[in-house]
Amino acid sequence: MSYAIVYSSRTGNTAMLAQAIREALPPEECIYFGEPDPRALEAETLYVGFWTDKGSCDEKIAAFLESLTGQQVFLFGTAGFGGASAYFDQILDRAAAHLGPQVRLMGRYMCQGKMPQVVRDRYQAMEESPRRTAMLANFDQALSHPNEEDLAQLKASLTTLPS
Ligand SMILES: Cc1cc2nc3c(=O)[nH]c(=O)nc-3n(C[C@H](O)[C@H](O)[C@H](O)COP(=O)(O)O)c2cc1C
Repeated sequence: MSYAIVYSSRTGNTAMLAQAIREALPPEECIYFGEPDPRALEAETLYVGFWTDKGSCDEKIAAFLESLTGQQVFLFGTAGFGGASAYFDQILDRAAAHLGPQVRLMGRYMCQGKMPQVVRDRYQAMEESPRRTAMLANFDQALSHPNEEDLAQLKASLTTLPS
């Protein structure tokens, strides 16, 4: 079955997930790999990856998801804040809301992704508070993600998909 891997990634985290999916699937069935592009729409299955912007998928991916016609979709993404699966679920729900009723969502996966140092500098400059401490801890926790375990979990979630 033909598939395409379409993703948006500003700092490389989501690109790591896209690459892991590419490694896990048969290369001969891949018709497109890269940034959102109408060429990808010819595939029967689309693996669509986003980075989290203001609690949802980034705008490029939102527009791409809205352009789908009848493909089946696997959604994946990365977010700076981790630690709570309910948070990831909320983001994935918001991203999935960009899909029309004719598109079947066959699976989804999210993990944490590191953020640029300027973000830590901004937290550091804030007045001492429990919120600041939590944000600094989250930033430091994000630094190692996506890690090997995240990528292995993503690959495992592909093998358990309903056909
Ligand atoms: C402008 C901007 C907005 C962001 N908004 C969020 C957000 O609302 N929630 C979150 O968890 N992470 C947020 N992040 C963090 C990124 O989603 C996260 O670092 C992601 O892994 C980046 O993926 P990329 O390396 O593929 O670009 C934001 C990052 C930027 C640059």
